[in-house]
Amino acid sequence: MELIDTIRKRRSIRRYTDDTIPEETLDRILRAGLLAPTSRGLKPCEFYVVKDKNVLEKLSRAKKAGAGMLSGCHAAVVVLGDSEKADTWVEDCSIALSFMMLSAVEQGIGNCWVQIHLRSDANGRDAEQNVREILSVPQKYRVAGILSLGIPAEHPELHTMEEADLRRVHTI
Ligand SMILES: Cc1cc2nc3c(=O)[nH]c(=O)nc-3n(C[C@H](O)[C@H](O)[C@H](O)COP(=O)(O)O)c2cc1C
Repeated sequence: MELIDTIRKRRSIRRYTDDTIPEETLDRILRAGLLAPTSRGLKPCEFYVVKDKNVLEKLSRAKKAGAGMLSGCHAAVVVLGDSEKADTWVEDCSIALSFMMLSAVEQGIGNCWVQIHLRSDANGRDAEQNVREILSVPQKYRVAGILSLGIPAEHPELHTMEEADLRRVHTI
C-alpha cells in the first residue's frame, strides 16, 4: 500500500472483534513508534503495552468521556514522555503515536488515539494522574496519549483526496 493510501484508509476505529492481534503485528506497530524521530534524538518516549482486561477497564475510566473503547480493545499502547529527558515530549510522543497508527492501518489493525493529558475523569480528577497511578509510574512521566488496538468491527469510509482542503495551504 502506498503511504498516501494508508493515510486515507486511517479512520478512528472504536469497535473491535474478539480476535487477537498476532504478536508479530503488534511488534511491528511498536517498532514503528520506537523508530519515530525525536528532538535532538533524546528518545523520551516509553511504551506501555496493556493487554490485561482489568487494567484496560481501569484505563477506559481514566477520563470522563472518549476512552470507552479501551475496555473492548485487544491491546492498548500508553505512550509516556519523560519530561526530565526532553521538553519536547508532546511532539516526540505524538509522532510515535502517529507512526504506530499508520503501521496499524497498513496491517489491517483498527486503532484510535485517546487523549489523556489536559483531560479529567468523571470526578474532576486529572486523567494523567489516574493513568500514572494505574501503571505505577512516577510523576515525571507525562501521558501523551493511548492508542487502542484491535481487529476492526466497523469499517468507515476511507478519507477522500477531496477532503484535503487546499484552502488551508498558504504559499508565500
Ligand atoms: C490528538 C487526538 C486526540 C484524540 N482523542 C480522542 C479521544 O480521546 N477519544 C476518541 O474517541 N477519539 C479521539 N481522537 C480521534 C478523533 O476524534 C478523530 O481522529 C477525528 O474525529 C477524525 O476522525 P478519523 O480519525 O476517523 O479520521 C483523537 C485524535 C487525535 C489526533
